[in-house]
Amino acid sequence: MTRRKFVCGNWKMHKTIAEAVQLVRELRDKTAGASAQVAVAPPFTALSAVKQAVAGSAIQLFAQNCHFEKQGAFTGEVSPAMVKDAGCDGVILGHSERRQSFGETDELVAKKLRAALAEGLHPIVCVGETLQEREAGRTWEVVSRQVRGALGGLDAATLQRITLAYEPVWAIGTGRNATSAQAQEVHAQIRGLLRDLGGQPVANAIRIQYGGSVKPDNAAELLSQPDVDGALVGGASLKAGDFSAIVSAAK
Ligand code: 13P
Repeated sequence: MTRRKFVCGNWKMHKTIAEAVQLVRELRDKTAGASAQVAVAPPFTALSAVKQAVAGSAIQLFAQNCHFEKQGAFTGEVSPAMVKDAGCDGVILGHSERRQSFGETDELVAKKLRAALAEGLHPIVCVGETLQEREAGRTWEVVSRQVRGALGGLDAATLQRITLAYEPVWAIGTGRNATSAQAQEVHAQIRGLLRDLGGQPVANAIRIQYGGSVKPDNAAELLSQPDVDGALVGGASLKAGDFSAIVSAAK
């Protein structure tokens, strides 16, 4: 079973509209002809402008978050329908920064996931343990709870529309990536759980991205692992040269 590699740049809270358009214009040229699926996730304010700038290219557009309701009195929130309306193909959900800084629980991520799927968006669901949890030997307890919490109860056809991202919290923005063996171990465990949840075809089809200090110099090694199907890239996605080098490493 060959799964097409999928590399997404999570720009987090970076880039004005003009900066975002400039970056994605460079990415258009540098990633043209890539074998991997490529996406960028700019901040909400730049989504529409980036959508115009990627028109006619293979670069997909993702939001970094959304609410679970369609509309209503939720000051400061953006609905899945609005994300879709801005031109997004998908949305990142349950990022550890959302879980840690904004109190997102497994239950909330599950609600957002269902709302995003109902809108026809391609969700990337993030999971990952903290350093404390890893050192206490609780990595799989935490990651499996997060995967089950978000995906549990969905049917096989729906599960196949989801991408997962394993992002160990201790590797995010620290320059300390998981080793390829550490990543592969958890990715293989997640794939086993996906088999339990949806059967073998689902487990074979779902892409599991690795995220956490992915850089041009470690991408090829991480992406060579059998269960590492792509990357969710933070800091290195803000530079066209670095991000396109990572995309090139995803074969
Ligand atoms: P860094 O690549 O900056 O470590 O961030 C990873 C991440 O959080 C992507 O979602």
